[in-house]
Amino acid sequence: MTNETWTVKDILAWTSGRFVQLDLPTPLLDAQLLLSSVVGLSKVQLYMHHDRVLSGDERTRMRDLVRRRISGEPVAYLLGRKDWHELDLLVDARVLIPRPETETLLDFVLDVFRSAGREPARLLDLCTGSGCLAVGLGRRFPRATVVAVDVSAEALAVARENAKRNGAHNVSFLLADVREDGLFTRLLHEAGGAFDVVVANPPYVSESEWTHLDVGVRDFEPRLALVAENEGFALANLLAREVVREGVLSPESVFAMEVGLSHCDLLAGPEAPGHLETFPYNTQSWKFPRARSFALQDLTGRDRFWCRVSGLAFEGVAQESEAQGPDAQAAVDAANVERLERLRLEAEARALAAHSKDDGREPEGHFENV
Ligand SMILES: C[S@@+](CC[C@H](N)C(=O)[O-])C[C@H]1O[C@@H](n2cnc3c(N)ncnc32)[C@H](O)[C@@H]1O
Repeated sequence: MTNETWTVKDILAWTSGRFVQLDLPTPLLDAQLLLSSVVGLSKVQLYMHHDRVLSGDERTRMRDLVRRRISGEPVAYLLGRKDWHELDLLVDARVLIPRPETETLLDFVLDVFRSAGREPARLLDLCTGSGCLAVGLGRRFPRATVVAVDVSAEALAVARENAKRNGAHNVSFLLADVREDGLFTRLLHEAGGAFDVVVANPPYVSESEWTHLDVGVRDFEPRLALVAENEGFALANLLAREVVREGVLSPESVFAMEVGLSHCDLLAGPEAPGHLETFPYNTQSWKFPRARSFALQDLTGRDRFWCRVSGLAFEGVAQESEAQGPDAQAAVDAANVERLERLRLEAEARALAAHSKDDGREPEGHFENV
């Protein structure tokens, strides 16, 4: 095969095969996303135009992306963007790439308010990073005020851009360290009252866990976004205490914080020593306690979110959610099914690419030196 005859199909097969050899987790999907960005076709269109021949310039750009992917750089950084929840987010090395489990945290807050038929007025996102949570909330509650805090000026620049890009004009950004004395007093003053929603996804990885992280995370994502002192527990512990302090949360409020895998029980504190009540992410069986912390599981059943729901407005949320009839419930279920389907498709893509490795067709030509 000569350089001139590399078609979309050839490059997809070659690239996914190479990614399989290197044991990348989602080889076909990565190959599709990179090639889509180079040739300006959607994933579906790649298959419709499988015999389209790439130009020399396109081959060069694809080869550069493939090299960077092989060195471990995450696909989202290579593309400079990430689809997350309903948002189109700018992402680069200044911010952590928003994760799927954090979508569940956002869904939880949205579901609780939707079920109660209420809208929050003041919302706070601590450790905002790319701004995914603040922007997602700001868009859904356009009449509310959202304050987003991060200690990194670089991260805040990305978050600001994401607010603009996604039409969330009600989010304001504050450069601050959540450990600062008097920060919450300042935030309450700035927002004009107590918060109806506080969300947080602080760094929660320990120093030793960080050294064992995947190369794509450890070498490319900001360490500041991942690692916290005290075995990764320092900031989550501080926020769990500060946020439930008198006056930060309004009487009708929701606090939800993403934490490390073992952290929910550690955070339990005196009100539930040693063990925190745990709830699966399933709106039909939500009967969580009021004004007492509990652990919420992600879609794979792991305790990931430290939550607290206060106020009579949220009494009977589970029952009302069912009573709202099929529509509201179906929307939630559909989002969850779609998320699980995405995980299944990624597994399938991996199996497919593994199969293509066995078709005896060795990668060759222009790409062989990659
Ligand atoms: C895990 S990332 C979360 C980003 C985003 N909220 C998300 O869910 O994808 C944590 C963020 O916390 C910020 N951060 C780290 N230490 C902080 C501190 N002491 N005060 C405020 N923000 C901090 C980092 O800059 C980073 O953007």
